[in-house]
Amino acid sequence: MEMTMSELVDYYRKRAVEYEEIYEWRDPSRQEEQELLETAIKAALGGRRVLEVACGTGYWTRVLSEAAESIVATDLGEEVMELAKSKEYGCPVSFRKEDAYRLSFDDGSYDGGLAFSWLSHVPRHKIDGFLRGFHRVLQEGARIIIADNIYIPGVGGELIRREGDENTYKHRTLKDGSEFVIVKNYFSPQELTDIFAGHVEGFTEENVFYGRCFWYVDYELRKGRGDSYGG
Ligand SMILES: C[S@@+](CC[C@H](N)C(=O)[O-])C[C@H]1O[C@@H](n2cnc3c(N)ncnc32)[C@H](O)[C@@H]1O
Repeated sequence: MEMTMSELVDYYRKRAVEYEEIYEWRDPSRQEEQELLETAIKAALGGRRVLEVACGTGYWTRVLSEAAESIVATDLGEEVMELAKSKEYGCPVSFRKEDAYRLSFDDGSYDGGLAFSWLSHVPRHKIDGFLRGFHRVLQEGARIIIADNIYIPGVGGELIRREGDENTYKHRTLKDGSEFVIVKNYFSPQELTDIFAGHVEGFTEENVFYGRCFWYVDYELRKGRGDSYGG
């Protein structure tokens, strides 16, 4: 059984005010990796006009804003974006309600792309569609960072597997006691290479960083001839 899109948005709506606690790690090696990610995001997307999908409360938007030329930050949840809007940014940032699966921008609108903690929530059969749509609105040669968590047993609740289901799930309880089961998929370096090599010419395992807590892919968009970006 797959969680519907509105349930996922509802979960993050309810979690909005407590969401950024996840970035206040007491674990120094986790903190170190997070800082490495901040450096990588700024280095890759610095000076670019960036489209961010699923920006949530704007934690990474703020980090990126210290280096980007401008950012259009999008999410389907209005409550999380209200929190994001209340922050101060280092470059012009505009917010827009957008469904990551149906981005409404013109083809080739941006030369940078960011998605943090988003791919893990995409049901596996929707990954290719998401990437096609994301790449469509980015220019050839755009630089892209997609980052997410690595599975660590005991962190973020028990991993739920269901027979005959290619996705995995996490059970989450918020401070008000409300309970959710959300799609949370984890990827090996090989899986990431296979997924992205199917969409980006020249993508290799060299484009994958795989740490202890986080992975990210960093690549220049080379749209393969086999892929259709027509909408
Ligand atoms: C794990 S949060 C990540 C937030 C932020 N990128 C971060 O890393 O702090 C996932 C976000 O996806 C958003 N979301 C869920 N479904 C979406 C959709 N179909 N299109 C766009 N955003 C969506 C949720 O509202 C939530 O803000």
